Amino acid sequence: MITNTELEQKGNAFPSNVISFRKDVDTLYFTTENDVALQITILRDGLLRFRYSTTGMFAKDFSYAITKYASIGYNQLDIEEKEDCYTITTSKIICEVSRKGLLIKIYDKADGSLINQDELGFHWEESYEFGGDIVKMSKVSHDGESYFGLGDKPGHLNLKGKRFENWVTDSYAYGKDTDPIYKTIPFYTGLHNKKAYGIFFDNTFRSYFDFAQERRFVTSFWAQGGEMNYYFIYGPKMTDVVEYYTDLTGKPDLPPLWALGFHQCKWSYYPESKVKAITSKFRELQIPCDAIYLDIDYMEGFRCFTWNKEYFPDPKRMVKELEEDGFKTVAIIDPGIKIDKKYWVYKEGLENDYFCKRADGPYIKGKVWPGECYFPDFTNPKVREWWSGLFKELIEEIGVKGIWNDMNEPAVMEVPNKTFPHDVRHDYDGNPCSHRKAHNIYGMQMARATYHGVKKFSHPKRPFVITRAAYSGTQRYTSTWTGDNIANWEHLWIANVQVQRLAMSGFSFAGSDIGGFAEQPHGELYARWIQLATFHPFFRVHSSGDHGDQEPWTFDEDITDIVRKFIELRYQLLPYLYTAFWDYTERGVPLIKSLVMFDQEDVNTHYRIDEFIFGDSILACPVQEPNAKGRRMYIPRGEWYNYWTDEVVKGGKETWVDADIDSMPVFIKEGAIIPKYPVQQYVGERKIEEITLDIYYKKGKEDSQFFEDAQDGYDYTKGRFCLRSFKLTGRKNQLVIQQHKEGSYESDCKIFKLQIHGLPFEVKNIQLDNETKSLEQLHSNGCLTLMIDENFSILDLNGENEE
Ligand code: GLC
Repeated sequence: MITNTELEQKGNAFPSNVISFRKDVDTLYFTTENDVALQITILRDGLLRFRYSTTGMFAKDFSYAITKYASIGYNQLDIEEKEDCYTITTSKIICEVSRKGLLIKIYDKADGSLINQDELGFHWEESYEFGGDIVKMSKVSHDGESYFGLGDKPGHLNLKGKRFENWVTDSYAYGKDTDPIYKTIPFYTGLHNKKAYGIFFDNTFRSYFDFAQERRFVTSFWAQGGEMNYYFIYGPKMTDVVEYYTDLTGKPDLPPLWALGFHQCKWSYYPESKVKAITSKFRELQIPCDAIYLDIDYMEGFRCFTWNKEYFPDPKRMVKELEEDGFKTVAIIDPGIKIDKKYWVYKEGLENDYFCKRADGPYIKGKVWPGECYFPDFTNPKVREWWSGLFKELIEEIGVKGIWNDMNEPAVMEVPNKTFPHDVRHDYDGNPCSHRKAHNIYGMQMARATYHGVKKFSHPKRPFVITRAAYSGTQRYTSTWTGDNIANWEHLWIANVQVQRLAMSGFSFAGSDIGGFAEQPHGELYARWIQLATFHPFFRVHSSGDHGDQEPWTFDEDITDIVRKFIELRYQLLPYLYTAFWDYTERGVPLIKSLVMFDQEDVNTHYRIDEFIFGDSILACPVQEPNAKGRRMYIPRGEWYNYWTDEVVKGGKETWVDADIDSMPVFIKEGAIIPKYPVQQYVGERKIEEITLDIYYKKGKEDSQFFEDAQDGYDYTKGRFCLRSFKLTGRKNQLVIQQHKEGSYESDCKIFKLQIHGLPFEVKNIQLDNETKSLEQLHSNGCLTLMIDENFSILDLNGENEE
């Protein structure tokens, strides 16, 4: 154990005794003899904010991460001043603050168990070199405690035993142990004694987290500047922790439905004839696809907001023709603006003083794809407004539907630190600072400005944006991908971990470059990757193109058929995914859940990595080895239907599951009702008048939902949606499905085709809204099918004859 004295000798300082305390509405203020100030704000019954200052004064309160729409308000707040501590009691927690050293302990109010406890608590080290303090916090790591979160870290799902750095970094061909990479999401969930809490350290400086690596029973985090400013979020369910965090840092709007379809990308498809050849091939081979991407070569010498007229003589016509064929065009826009006196974006930026400067005055100049560039200061609201306006031509006039923001760490080539020097100045929304503070949010602010531009010029349709760099809260504006990965089996594993981890970090709309960005996959790896990504919220193939092609037809015909089969499955599942997405936008419920998040009560899930839940009811597990005919996997507790065979498996154990190259382990939770569309080649290809409901019999009750709206536009925010809530009740001899509809959107759907799986009895009687239906309407082909009016209220299938 390291003692305070040893740490003090190393230059650390600690708070001394409390000398003053006061409460003002929802905030408590403490000061110590040595001028440390602590503010604790009670935001919700299970959500406290801790803010420390080493000078007794606080800087202006400002955060890019926290949204003004965050829910606040508590049911109970009692404060007690005791001899050695103060206690704060809400309806969920009891928090103790010691008079000596400001040490914090947080207990579950319900059963008194200790959830989180400071070890040394807050301490700091003055930094002569940077000015300011290195602010530090250390907490006790409980026996058997696990840690999850931190955004896009590529290693094991459980972070325990590792130290991580947060500094947004361009990381071409990163590996399992590369750290840091593209994103900074300084939020983790701790889980011990089956209870979960979260910590969000809202500090944008370079930060570090040590999860019991340096010392086995200590978890600590620190940053090279700024304030010790963190939020404590109590679950006790992991999903609640993530939902509260997402509520605090913001939920996205619904994307247009097409954005959940399949996207094809490559660096780069050009000229126009090549783009058309790719899109035509999709239609010819009947492989569904909604989006086609233009990487940097569409531009004139990589100048953003220009077109290479030799390759793309008439972009507006091309984009329109693609749209007529169901393809939405997504174009890349990077932050680096080419230094070129004849280039209008450069000139405007220069005239208005919008580019970032070094501390002593000159512009920061850096090499990116176009050569030497200047970089807009996206932390300046005026610059963001200008940037948003630049999208008018691309979106409103040419008709591009989505924007892809890349290199926004910001990435700079041929310099050792891959980015700006520390002294570069930023406006930081009127709180001028150096790049040390603004680096981690630079990409986020670029994506924010892009989002507002695309949103404005897409209106009345919804925007689609994708970014590479991100800080907490970026999920409000954009989707994301995991950057420049590699075409190998290990990266299939990494993609699975990263997308799960991002979802646990509030950023669900994420995916990987399917097949791998660098190098070329073998057909088998490509097929396995498509299978995994069918269950990722963002579904895009992308590759660098230096190593060959990566379209679904690049490999042999068997592979093309497998790829088609899975992309078709994705299109069938669109209404299911869209419903889950709606739940994410409403409540912050992650779109995919690692098993530990799905069932934290079952300790077996705490070690699992490969298996995850897509939405609420689909269990998926990728095959991650060559030549495999199946794999062992853990099936969580409860009963599950094998999606391909309908065989029912009892969970709570590890099982072998067959999955030859044309299959993948997929299970459906008993009691689930999964809405499915017919296969379309792109979203909106057909008017869908018949929707399938796959109903999985369960003995007992289960609730599910199905959300629909116009698939784009904002009418849903004015009540024009159709939300169906289903209640399933299964008994030995009876299955009852009740439907309750809300919202004023009139769906195209007229008929539900019910496919009932696993019914354990022979149906003798069908009652639909209290009328008897003929048994002849029931068909059996593997499962029972029945066509009914979409407007039904109650369906009763009975195994007994009518009395
Ligand atoms: C970066 C991106 C990659 C893109 C390339 C060219 O490496 O991560 O996706 O294709 O730049 O724009």
